[in-house]
Amino acid sequence: AADIRPMVAGNWKMNGTRSELDQIRAIAHGVSGPLSKKIDALICPPSTLLYVATTLTVDTKLLVGAQDCHQKARTGAHTGDISAEMIRDCFATHVIVGHSERRKEHGEDNYTVSMKARAAYDQGLTAIVCIGETRAQHKAGRTMDVIHRQLNESMPADATAENTIVAYEPVWAIGTGQTPGADDVARVHARMRADLVERFGARGEAIRLLYGGSVKPQNAPELLSVPHVNGALIGGASLKAADFLAIYHAYE
Ligand code: G3P
Repeated sequence: AADIRPMVAGNWKMNGTRSELDQIRAIAHGVSGPLSKKIDALICPPSTLLYVATTLTVDTKLLVGAQDCHQKARTGAHTGDISAEMIRDCFATHVIVGHSERRKEHGEDNYTVSMKARAAYDQGLTAIVCIGETRAQHKAGRTMDVIHRQLNESMPADATAENTIVAYEPVWAIGTGQTPGADDVARVHARMRADLVERFGARGEAIRLLYGGSVKPQNAPELLSVPHVNGALIGGASLKAADFLAIYHAYE
């Protein structure tokens, strides 16, 4: 629906040390002007920078999120993991779950992803649930089936537009400079919208659908104007404030 508030989100992945905090400052400054009345902006730095990032962005319009959380919401013996409670404690408001890099490198399946989303809900965080087909699945013409199943299995039954954002990231488009055509993105996003409405009714109408995978300043105007694309999840181009802001300003 036309009244969904768009979001431009950046996922820094395993990038970013203290010396890149200037980029976060610059992004926060750049997204706090008049366009902030219409568009949300979010940055997801590595967890080592999470607390300092929220501290730096206090009194700005830039939202801060984490890149992953454990499926257990609070404390426990899980060396190396961080919980949704810890993320909230850092004053972050969002957490990415089920990114394809987590699915691939850490063996996370749809069920695990849905548990992580629940952990986020438990702590009042908004989960950004990522789905997307691999290149092989794409080539085999299985995109729609894969998306349908991932969406259905990765999203908890109590998902709402407040606690959940969906990001469609074709795995073959991530970090490759290749993107699906606008028509293909439109087909997938229309299907996701239809699936959400079928499952959640009116709630499903309002859930944001982001596109991710090689979003750059040059292709952002086209990708962001595709029907049912309610924003972008940006990897590489979110590391430089100038690129992030150029994509954000595609909404002008
Ligand atoms: O989560 C965002 C990401 O996977 C897209 O990465 O570098 O292709 O924009 P990139």
